[in-house]
Amino acid sequence: MALYSEKVMDHFTNPRNVGKIEDANGIGEVGNARCGDIMKIYLKVNDDGIIEDVKFNTFGCASAIASSSMATEMIKGRHIDEALELTNKAVVEALDGLPPVKIHCSVLAEEAVKSAVKDYYDRKGIEYDTELFKEVSCSSCGEH
Ligand code: FES
Repeated sequence: MALYSEKVMDHFTNPRNVGKIEDANGIGEVGNARCGDIMKIYLKVNDDGIIEDVKFNTFGCASAIASSSMATEMIKGRHIDEALELTNKAVVEALDGLPPVKIHCSVLAEEAVKSAVKDYYDRKGIEYDTELFKEVSCSSCGEH
């Protein structure tokens, strides 16, 4: 079996939503301490709380880029609160799997989305449960 699924290869070689949103109202940036990879996500949320646009910049491995691309596709057009429900597991499933040593790369995508949502809530003065933003645990990589 190939190391990466066709979907991972597709999202790595042709990533969706790459770039920056100049007038973003939610920005999240996370880094992986061990590999040094960095992921930044920009959200443009409208007055109804819908994520109208989302873009990302990832300086990282193929799995991190594919995970960010897939994560942005999964939250685009959704309500900001729903974006918080995105899990790395759902991203991995949507990508038809990642090798076990690469699961932590998808955790980075979940954390980046959460950090952007938190930034949006902070800017708007929306109250939230801090429990929702606890570090994501990743049993496969042992880094969190
Ligand atoms: Fe660092 Fe994939 S190896 S995010």
